[in-house]
Amino acid sequence: MVTIREEKIADVAAREALLDIAYGASRFTKTCERLREGRLPADGLSLVAVERGRIVGTVRLWHVTAGPERLALLLGPLAVDPAHRNRGIGSALVRRAIARARLAGHRAIVLIGDAPYYGRFGFTAAATGELWMPGHFERERLLGLELKADALAGARGLIAATGALAPKPDLAVLVAIDRHSRKRAGTRRALAA
Ligand SMILES: CC(C)(COP(=O)(O)OP(=O)(O)OC[C@H]1O[C@@H](n2cnc3c(N)ncnc32)[C@H](O)[C@@H]1OP(=O)(O)O)[C@@H](O)C(=O)NCCC(=O)NCCS
Repeated sequence: MVTIREEKIADVAAREALLDIAYGASRFTKTCERLREGRLPADGLSLVAVERGRIVGTVRLWHVTAGPERLALLLGPLAVDPAHRNRGIGSALVRRAIARARLAGHRAIVLIGDAPYYGRFGFTAAATGELWMPGHFERERLLGLELKADALAGARGLIAATGALAPKPDLAVLVAIDRHSRKRAGTRRALAA
């Protein structure tokens, strides 16, 4: 049975591996990534699908403005393990994310994705024609969903990241880890010699 729950820190490695499989290395060059990098996702809106203890799906939502001062969320990336596709897991993740976002009082969700897929959840390009992403994007794939009436009416301008900044890794800690691993590798080489 597949369970949808909030992501935990222990899920990060499995989530990243899943995204690598689903999108490949190009995932870091996507314009959407410019709205996510260095930011924390919206509270309670990082979800994973789990089956027999394994992460088989992931979705996260991020704080943005859709034009000046118009609060919204950005959905993505969404990915399901190729071995588990067409079982409704992607839909369950999106529907749960939408329900949680609505419950938390968010006003609208935007995303870059395939309209034939996201249309089933109510996403359309009807109100996104005057919005821009901070880089290359395919206009017909910029979709929106209003969680509150007219939340995207008249939306115009740049979609910009507004999420809290993610803590930067401590350089001293990174140096210490690097030195430690080099020392261990040196010891292993000496023992093997
Ligand atoms: C897109 C994705 C998340 C769907 O996950 P899933 O768990 O297989 O989705 P569901 O089982 O809920 O839905 C399957 C349905 O969506 C359809 N579908 C899947 N991807 C689609 C797409 N890009 N465009 C249109 N329809 C799509 C399937 O054909 C199937 O249709 P059916 O219900 O008529 O049989 C998954 O295929 C994936 O991880 N893809 C790679 C990453 C990606 O492209 N993500 C963003 C999508 S724009």
